[in-house]
Amino acid sequence: MLAGPTRVPTATAAQAAAECVPTDPSIAPVPGCAWIAGASSGIGRALALRLARAGWTVVASARRADALEAMAGEAANGRIVPLPIDVTDRAALAAGLARIERELGPPALAVAAAGLYEPVDAERFDAERFRATIELNLMGTANLLEAVMPLMMRRRGGRIAVVASVAGYRGLPTAAAYGASKAALINMCESLKPDISTTGTRPPRSMRACPCLAGCCGDCGDGCPWSSGPR
Ligand SMILES: NC(=O)c1ccc[n+]([C@@H]2O[C@H](COP(=O)([O-])OP(=O)(O)OC[C@H]3O[C@@H](n4cnc5c(N)ncnc54)[C@H](OP(=O)(O)O)[C@@H]3O)[C@@H](O)[C@H]2O)c1
Repeated sequence: MLAGPTRVPTATAAQAAAECVPTDPSIAPVPGCAWIAGASSGIGRALALRLARAGWTVVASARRADALEAMAGEAANGRIVPLPIDVTDRAALAAGLARIERELGPPALAVAAAGLYEPVDAERFDAERFRATIELNLMGTANLLEAVMPLMMRRRGGRIAVVASVAGYRGLPTAAAYGASKAALINMCESLKPDISTTGTRPPRSMRACPCLAGCCGDCGDGCPWSSGPR
């Protein structure tokens, strides 16, 4: 069963719950869970905790099961359900989604936050490091979308947030691989937006693909969990 660990009230969890009053309507839970890939640290982790505080059930994925388990104990109001997955593994993502659907219902929100930054510049140009960045940042995101998008389109609802970067808009020093991967993500999201809205006889309700920065891209409108989320 996809069940979070028994929540033991700790000073940290209690303090976090007290500090974060979920009054922000843009992150109010909707029916269905949130699935975050890249949730064991950094932005994905902060978002998982924030959504859980707002009352969401959050499925938290990344490779490090121990970090996900530890975070699940910090959830307040909602709950965090660890589901260790490597996003470069398409079969694992498909199996993970099937399990989520079976045990928690279809995800209303999927967030692609898994990513890495490996410095690659002219002097240290290394195709293997380049490939690793593309494989995770771009293909890992594509793998997640391949899993969730058909389900959301069939259900005519759902939201996808892709974490890109300002490095995707402009070339930055040492970011030859990272920036290229993020530029590709931004372009991918921009392409998907009109595609999504023209599928079927009427556009899927509230299904958006957001080319977000670390914070909000300002383009995603109501209901985007990034609009006042972690920066
Ligand atoms: N930090 C910034 O200033 C900043 C700015 C702009 C954009 N971003 C973007 O924001 C996202 C998160 O960045 P962050 O700074 O929060 O990084 P982070 O703390 O290093 O988090 C990266 C997350 O991705 C997961 N991950 C790595 N490889 C994975 C794989 N193969 N399968 C599944 N999960 C994997 C990591 O967990 P495991 O190691 O457990 O798998 C971790 O949870 C990235 O896409 C990054 O490019 C960050």
